[in-house]
Amino acid sequence: MKQKFSTLLIIAVAMLVLAACGTKEGAKSGSDTSSDGGDNKVYVVGTEATFAPFESIDANGNIVGIDVDVLNAIADEVGIQVEWRNIGWDAVFSTINNKETDIGGSGITITEDRKKTFDFTEPYYESKLLIVVPSNSKVKSLDELKDKKIAVQINATGHVAAKKLQGETSTNILAFESQPFAIQEMLNGNADAVIGDNAVVYEYMKANPDKKLKVIEDAAFEKEYYGFMVRKGNTELLDKLNEGLQKIKDNGKLKEITNSEFWKE
Ligand code: ARG
Repeated sequence: MKQKFSTLLIIAVAMLVLAACGTKEGAKSGSDTSSDGGDNKVYVVGTEATFAPFESIDANGNIVGIDVDVLNAIADEVGIQVEWRNIGWDAVFSTINNKETDIGGSGITITEDRKKTFDFTEPYYESKLLIVVPSNSKVKSLDELKDKKIAVQINATGHVAAKKLQGETSTNILAFESQPFAIQEMLNGNADAVIGDNAVVYEYMKANPDKKLKVIEDAAFEKEYYGFMVRKGNTELLDKLNEGLQKIKDNGKLKEITNSEFWKE
């Protein structure tokens, strides 16, 4: 009986300790951006880090890339702190809404559809979709992919473009967790082409010279712009990010990082 009591006591104490930890953790990552008055708040950034040169994992396990450099430069300008988490593409969106993250930084294209649910900063990068095929493919244009198998990253703009071409419910569209997966599946012979973001495809080809790929740029694809994404109505954070972004456009840092001044064109 005595033993039973002490076991219960241990469990009770353990629960208290856990509960206390829970609160602390909650406060640290708690995403109610207005609650702790700003300065020492750490904004959590969600990303999907198989997207070099924008985000990837380096040899030490750190998330690195253009998006990290751009957002860190913005954060420095306006004196905020950010913490990056590699959580997967779908989670980049869902965790903003349930407040586990504050910012989506993941080569995210600003689209009218996404703007219904999220707010975006001004653009920081200009991008375009392109088609990737095995180097011996005869495909020459988007139009020729009408009834071919297309691999894409799920819910990415390449997926949207494939659905526009083949219809929402086409079974010839194969959607994967990441753009490299989509390319690998095509190389495995399971798809005829991939539609993906240009800079990332070129970087992939550079990093994988052994994989025999070629790209097709098609005039049907329109310019896309990447922005950082926040919860709809989080104007306090959005204003800070836009303020910092404007500063690094003006002082040359954004050009230094991305090698582009598209906003001047
Ligand atoms: N730009 C495309 C989009 O917004 C693809 C982005 C994928 N990003 C990533 N980190 N995997 O849909």
